[in-house]
Amino acid sequence: MSRRILVTSALPNANGSIHLGHLLEHIQTDIWVRFQRLRGNPTIYVCADDTHGTATMLKAEEEGITPEALIERVGLEHAKDFRGFLVEHDNYHSTHAIENKYYCELIYNRLQDRGLIFTREVEQLYDPERNIFLADRFVKGTCPKCGSEDQYGDNCEECSATYDAMDLKDPRSVISGATPILRISEHYFFDLPQYANMLATWLRSGAVQPEVANKLDEWLEAGLRPWDISRDAPYFGFLIPGTTDKYFYVWVDAPIGYMASFKHYVDARNELTFDEFWDAKNSTELHHFIGKDIINFHALLWPAMLDCAGFRKPTKIHVHGFVTVDGTKMSKSRGTFINASTYLEHLEPEYLRYYFAAKSNGTIDDIDINMIDFVQRVNSDLVGKVVNIASRCAGFLSKQFDGRLADTLHDEALWNSGTTVKDTIAAFYESGDTSKAMREITALADRTNQYIAQQEPWTKIKDPDKRDDVQAVCSQGINIFRLLVIYLKPVLPQMAMKAEAFLNVAPLTWADLATPLTNHTVNSFEPLFTRMDRKALELVVEASKEAEEVVAEGGVDRVTPAPNPSPQNPASETDGETMPTIGIEEFTRVELKVAKIIAAEAVADADKLIKLTLDVGDHERYVFSGIKAAYDPAALVGRLTVVVANLAPRKMRFGVSEGMVLAAGPGGDDIFLISPDDGAKPGMIVH
Ligand code: 2FM
Ligand code: ZN
Repeated sequence: MSRRILVTSALPNANGSIHLGHLLEHIQTDIWVRFQRLRGNPTIYVCADDTHGTATMLKAEEEGITPEALIERVGLEHAKDFRGFLVEHDNYHSTHAIENKYYCELIYNRLQDRGLIFTREVEQLYDPERNIFLADRFVKGTCPKCGSEDQYGDNCEECSATYDAMDLKDPRSVISGATPILRISEHYFFDLPQYANMLATWLRSGAVQPEVANKLDEWLEAGLRPWDISRDAPYFGFLIPGTTDKYFYVWVDAPIGYMASFKHYVDARNELTFDEFWDAKNSTELHHFIGKDIINFHALLWPAMLDCAGFRKPTKIHVHGFVTVDGTKMSKSRGTFINASTYLEHLEPEYLRYYFAAKSNGTIDDIDINMIDFVQRVNSDLVGKVVNIASRCAGFLSKQFDGRLADTLHDEALWNSGTTVKDTIAAFYESGDTSKAMREITALADRTNQYIAQQEPWTKIKDPDKRDDVQAVCSQGINIFRLLVIYLKPVLPQMAMKAEAFLNVAPLTWADLATPLTNHTVNSFEPLFTRMDRKALELVVEASKEAEEVVAEGGVDRVTPAPNPSPQNPASETDGETMPTIGIEEFTRVELKVAKIIAAEAVADADKLIKLTLDVGDHERYVFSGIKAAYDPAALVGRLTVVVANLAPRKMRFGVSEGMVLAAGPGGDDIFLISPDDGAKPGMIVH
């Protein structure tokens, strides 16, 4: 029986642009949603802009427009950015919406009816020039612990101390520069501690990843505190019922925005009801995808509010880590704080979708975009492994057999190896460990490329008696390619669509894994995927460079954590004498393969270079190697050597070099190509 699922991503703030951090989350969510649909589980994916709060109000003021005008403009930009990355929300709404006001008031009234709301006086810093209470992020001063200047009101970036804004030395308002004064105001509180037992049980129901449950247990053991849910005017938000100057704190109405967006979605259709997904009695599922900085809101406050107001609690909260680039926090000055729109001006969305999928492991570990690895991974896995299968096989099929596939499978064992992994791959998708899913998928592509290399259709086609064989081998290749497309469809929807057009099939589903395509004609092959160009990525970085800006809004910079202890940037050139070490993980990404030199010619205008044509098992490639002084080209033909197979192609003056052969020695004529032992064959992986 299929599951019925409602899915959300955290609501982006309406006062900034969509950047890599948002994209990680929405791409992860979109992949999960597409996977569920591919498996036949009806799934609805909603989101919205998180519009309320002081930051929106100030930003609108700065621009000289109303907050409404600002959020309208930004909402459209956000929705466009997500579409550009093939993230398909069924509804992208706003928290400043009638449905949200309705559910905020409803939930608040229910909480109040159950005696869970009380008021208490709170003393807070106040900007006497702007007449506004100052949240911690709007106060700066000198750290009371280490004395560092220019630190925010809640924590010190230098010594990591956390403190109360009132303890800052020489405090000043970030808004006006004025020295804040202390002022008392009445605040509304939700009596969260009443829900400690309920939360402890819920957390162990599989609702969060184990490491998140452990963190939450610590908080529960330390004791919950009542939650301050009001903010004083001036504030952009919804008034608390029965008051004239108290607003719901933005973190109250933000998660309720999930409900509001869903309500807006169902109201526009006649297919289902709000209650089917929000009533506690129903067996539908509710999944939230969020970053690790907002766990407390989603796994403590939100389920408690829902429970108290008689709504269902989330089935699962999927928490991810932060995005780093080349090992460090995203930075505007380094150009690694990359906005969605800047990326899309130069690069394809599916590159990033694939890379995030290849790096996500379903835990709260941070996800690092290593610029060199990004390009190599996309090109080597998708172009070099997956698409390569189709392009090689399609050529023979269309030229020699009018696109007709063979009647039977040529290698059942290979087919079975491709279908028996389906449950493993499904389990990885389900748990968000798409990194392992991608590894299974590319391993299948590797096995298929090896199979094609062994079968050598390019040799067999020269023999008229082996035509059937060629058709059978290429049909087998196309069939495994079809499996790969199904497996990759949640990650690469555009590529899958093009592949379906080439395969001449209806939109593929998980059920299609059960049967191969036989007695079928495929269409002519059109390129499915273009290689990722390192230069284009450099342009993105260049276009993203700007002076580092101070982020002054609480919770706004949700994907950029406090600075990491800057590990050595693996992409950087070494200045000193000693080479930096690399970790085993980095080393295992270097793909070493046995290659046979099938042609070699000295490059006329270069002192050192020989152009080698290498057979690397499943295809041929050119590599320029600086070994002219040591070898006579003719003597190299027929020799085996070891090549770094996944080195990004390098454009040289004489052509493009597609890898690097390994040699040892001091250089000049004293250099020796590394040759594998007897028995090695082109394409073998060197371990
Ligand atoms: O951290 C943030 O960016 C918030 N705007 C996320 C809100 S998620 C949900 F609660 F609405
Ligand atoms: Zn400090």
